[in-house]
Amino acid sequence: MRKEIHQRSQRKNEHVKHAMHQKTGEVLSDFERVTLLHHSLPDLNLDEIDLSTMIADHHVPIPLYINAMTGGSEWTESINRKLAGVAAATGIPMAVGSMHAALRHEELSSSYSIVREVNPDGLIFANVGADVSLEGARRAVEMIDADALQIHINAPQELIMPEGDRDFKSWRANIESIIGHMEVPVIVKEVGFGMSRKALLTLNALGVRHVDISGKGGTNFARIENARRKSGDMSYLGDWGISTVRALLESQSVQSDMSVMASGGISTPLDAVKCLALGARGVGMSRMLLKSVEDAGVDETIGYVDTFQNQMKRIAVMVNAATIEELRKTPLVLDPELLSWMSQRQLV
Ligand code: FNR
Repeated sequence: MRKEIHQRSQRKNEHVKHAMHQKTGEVLSDFERVTLLHHSLPDLNLDEIDLSTMIADHHVPIPLYINAMTGGSEWTESINRKLAGVAAATGIPMAVGSMHAALRHEELSSSYSIVREVNPDGLIFANVGADVSLEGARRAVEMIDADALQIHINAPQELIMPEGDRDFKSWRANIESIIGHMEVPVIVKEVGFGMSRKALLTLNALGVRHVDISGKGGTNFARIENARRKSGDMSYLGDWGISTVRALLESQSVQSDMSVMASGGISTPLDAVKCLALGARGVGMSRMLLKSVEDAGVDETIGYVDTFQNQMKRIAVMVNAATIEELRKTPLVLDPELLSWMSQRQLV
């Protein structure tokens, strides 16, 4: 038992360590393939810009959230404490990392519930995998008094991880059952491999109303799991997945039925605005905020989020869009590579 807890905590620490060492731009994000059209005569003032939005049925003043990362060890508890401090000060929602460790070993639960202690009134999302039962998902939500539940779907990560899951057939039934009975809104999210239109349609048919397409271009779990393994190299899968931009293109036809959120490699306010212009209702960031709280501290990170959202508003003025709804209508120019993707995928 002790050994199992130690191994779990170790894995959580390794994920954080490897993620922090990944370099921005290691895998192309495709944001450079999308151009927002400059508008020379804005008829707006900066202080008129209102980027408030709905995330998982909750009204939020800015379209950003701290996406799922961690918990399950001493070090990750201290990270969650810091991230919760940033969420509390900036008013943005925060998801904790996968809570399976605490579902199996109650003594690890403080590394998650710390976020509720630090941020009693904030919007907090629980996080479980799709192999979890409704009962397990409910316990995770109760543990942190969560306002929504994220269910992560991470098949490539499991398959590349030597100790990962190999059975996935139960996922759809579990998601359907959780969606049908959960007391709080449920978001189904990827972990950096993106979602295809078919995956989105399948989720929609299961009753899912909120998705985070979390695409390729940022934190890369194919590379992280490969770096952790000692034998059976799978590094040739380092570019596996659908980029955040391409996954948003895949999502166009479901955006009227589902609330689509974006994450994966968002590193500048311009990336975030491009996600909104491609139809995302909110934008999640993980690794950038992890690095910021660990390298620079909580106060610096609060400043970083404030500056980030302010600069998103300035870009909104440059395209003459006062709200998220107007940003969704702003003209976009896609490069030939993305146009080819759209035509081969019959998205146009
Ligand atoms: C993650 N991510 C993640 N997602 C999830 O649903 N459950 C989890 O437990 C974790 N764990 C985790 C650990 C660490 C250290 C990182 C950096 C990320 C994935 C995360 O929520 C997001 O989908 C991706 O990281 C892509 O966003 P960024 O990091 O490119 O902004």
